[in-house]
Amino acid sequence: MAGLSVHPVVSGRASAQEKRLKTRTQVVIIGAGPSGLLLSQLLHLRGIESVVLERQSREYVLSRVRAGVLEQATVALLEQAQVGARMRREGLVHEGVLLQFDSRVHRIDFRDLVGSSVMVYGQTEVTRDLMNARDAAGGQLVYEAQEVALLDYESERPRVSYRKDGQLHEIECDYIAGCDGFHGVCRASIPADRIALFERVYPFGWLGILSRTRPLDEELIYTSHSRGFALASMRSHAVSRYYVQCSLDDKVEQWSDDRFWEEFSLRVGPEISARLETGPSIEKSIAPLRSFVAEPMRFGNLFLVGDAAHIVPPTGAKGLNLAASDVGYLCRALVDRYQHHRHEALAAYSETALRRIWRAERFSWWMTSLMHRFPETTGFDRRVQVAEFDYLAGSRAASTALAENYIGLPH
Ligand code: APR
Ligand code: PHB
Repeated sequence: MAGLSVHPVVSGRASAQEKRLKTRTQVVIIGAGPSGLLLSQLLHLRGIESVVLERQSREYVLSRVRAGVLEQATVALLEQAQVGARMRREGLVHEGVLLQFDSRVHRIDFRDLVGSSVMVYGQTEVTRDLMNARDAAGGQLVYEAQEVALLDYESERPRVSYRKDGQLHEIECDYIAGCDGFHGVCRASIPADRIALFERVYPFGWLGILSRTRPLDEELIYTSHSRGFALASMRSHAVSRYYVQCSLDDKVEQWSDDRFWEEFSLRVGPEISARLETGPSIEKSIAPLRSFVAEPMRFGNLFLVGDAAHIVPPTGAKGLNLAASDVGYLCRALVDRYQHHRHEALAAYSETALRRIWRAERFSWWMTSLMHRFPETTGFDRRVQVAEFDYLAGSRAASTALAENYIGLPH
């Protein structure tokens, strides 16, 4: 019969009898986003071997546009990973941010309030620098690894299987690091009764555009307007990144560049928009906003890291920084284990990481609540938001609290 194969078709999943190419390493890292790449690079520099398995191609990973504000502790970790050279050359040091409510502007001066600054350098560039460093060091990175599956992760001999170019592979390891983002396989492999999920989904999204235009200002401008939130950010002196709060039902096609610039200008107001250089977008996308935490972050010899375990709304620019602090904790714990035969830090990883994560969750939720227009916003709610802005503008203590969180709580 036409179209029917005489052989049984094994679609997708590996059958028990199928021949596997078997290898061994110390740590299998699933996902080559910033978490997985940074972890593999730091482990390599401490003499710990890993293999990174990534579902997508290298080009695909590098095409994703994400936030671009690095805390000093993230900068220090990237330096430690020996990928700081281009960031130091091309990154922009920001010593403050501007908050705008309707037409009133308040500057949060990081240098004055907390004696620090942040680094504006795109996540895509961080990822590129890490990929180059892994290549230069001969790192084992498998792109387009299909059907990644976790086996016996609670035993002494965890294994990970995957398919590449039709061939089934199996890697035996000591530990698995789940760095595979919010939609990955690692968190999804945990039985529902072993994991607690905490979530808040916000009733709006962010429409973002990238354009080859001069940034609106030397610093980022976060604007709260009765039409909704807007943010002016940048990637360099010649490339800008702008966002407007939009409806979750909106489609990118409904937002022509002209409509975007018009809406953005209305929200930032005539004084600031008079300085706005507009131009064609080179990327345009809509992202939903979510707060999410999975607890715990350790299951036997499987550790969840970064977006695999938690998501923050982008308002405080904490996503990549939180991923970096998880990586820092896990790397130190693995070094303790391999170099000093001490298991305490590995045992404490989940608790240590979660304590910092919840503080960043709180800050991101707070800043999101302060700056956005919620569909059910009443006159009362708006006045409370404005009163909070007044408090920030008039109180050094309140401004310091914002600055301290924005530049990043200690690791
Ligand atoms: N098998 C292999 N790789 C996978 C799988 C899978 N089943 N599922 C997902 N991946 C890969 C994705 O393709 C992606 O490249 O895991 C990677 C996860 O990367 P990120 O989503 O960037 O997550 P993370 O490295 O933790 O980085 C956190 O990225 O999402 C932003 O705001 C977030 O800035 C933060 C940072
Ligand atoms: C960005 O530049 O993309 C960016 C900056 C700050 C944020 C979010 C995104 O809070």
